[in-house]
Amino acid sequence: MKRIGILTSGGDCQGLNAAIRGVAKALYVKWGDKVEIYGIQDGYRGLIEGNVRHMKREDFSGILTLGGTILGTSRQPFKKMRVIGEDNVDKVKAMKETFKKMKLDCLAILGGNGTQKTANLLSEEGIPVVSLPKTIDNDVWGPDMTFGFHSAVEIATTVLDCIHTTATSHGRVFIVEIMGHKVGWLPLYAGVAGGADVILLPEIPYKIESVVKTLEQRNKAGKRFSILAVAEGALSLEESKMSKKEFKAARMEMEHPSISYRLADEIGQMTGQEIRVTVPGHFQRGGSPCAYDRVLSTRFGTAAAQLIADEHYGHMVALKGTEIVAVPLSEVAGKLKGVPVDCEEVRSARDLGISFGD
Ligand code: F6P
Repeated sequence: MKRIGILTSGGDCQGLNAAIRGVAKALYVKWGDKVEIYGIQDGYRGLIEGNVRHMKREDFSGILTLGGTILGTSRQPFKKMRVIGEDNVDKVKAMKETFKKMKLDCLAILGGNGTQKTANLLSEEGIPVVSLPKTIDNDVWGPDMTFGFHSAVEIATTVLDCIHTTATSHGRVFIVEIMGHKVGWLPLYAGVAGGADVILLPEIPYKIESVVKTLEQRNKAGKRFSILAVAEGALSLEESKMSKKEFKAARMEMEHPSISYRLADEIGQMTGQEIRVTVPGHFQRGGSPCAYDRVLSTRFGTAAAQLIADEHYGHMVALKGTEIVAVPLSEVAGKLKGVPVDCEEVRSARDLGISFGD
């Protein structure tokens, strides 16, 4: 009998259930009654606390299109994994004990960057793991694409489409704040797909004068409105020169609830134009996965099941070009896949006249 544990960790995204289903169904096809799957509740927290349940086959049916995760999730920061807190719990030891107590053969771990780091830690500690890359940010190092990303792009693009009609009617400047703290793939793709005039990314610090210049040029050209797709992690050129500590302190002192509101104030003062801000927030992570993500999640799920069958542990499944491959977790851990400032997508947007505010 094979006993496989499965968990989802970090922020949720569309396609998690489709991927869980992919792993489980492929394992049942391979091993039939000779495999038991154990769902670990709320990510690594469940592994630490021993919150594990035996899943039935039917648990994995009817979930392909379901958003969120049937296993629940939580954020357990990697940097605190080896730190023993006030509860006096040695988290790494506790996770290893749960694995042993449940007599598991392997863990299938679904998550983003932080999750992959802890998956690598567990692998280094001798636990057989395979992992799957998820996140709406598409910032996991290794795969060309993570599941969740395209679904979020669809939602953010729909927001921009809807904003377009109202912006046109009123002749206003609209700022749409799109998720992406450190990495701007989502605002970049949604910005291009939604016809934004200005796209601000964490990777390309902006100058407010340059943003305003673009808006004024549009006014002169007789355009009634302008739309800015702004990453929640967008930052000014001055801020980009600050140390991490200085930046944190400056943002703590910022009077505005987010960067978009600060930009709205600054642009309003400099141009006298009417500015509105829209923040779709976690809406972008919710709901049913788009068709692309359903397929990618399924491919990742079945590929992970194959890694488990082959006992090819310590690896993350990844899409490279059109192929699904296995990448060693040791290569993935601790890296981030940001937007290269001169990548083809950015150059194409610039060719179209989209401003990045630099
Ligand atoms: O990592 C995905 C993500 O949605 C980011 O884009 C966003 O900055 C962050 O999670 C939000 O985190 P939380 O769910 O903790 O509010």
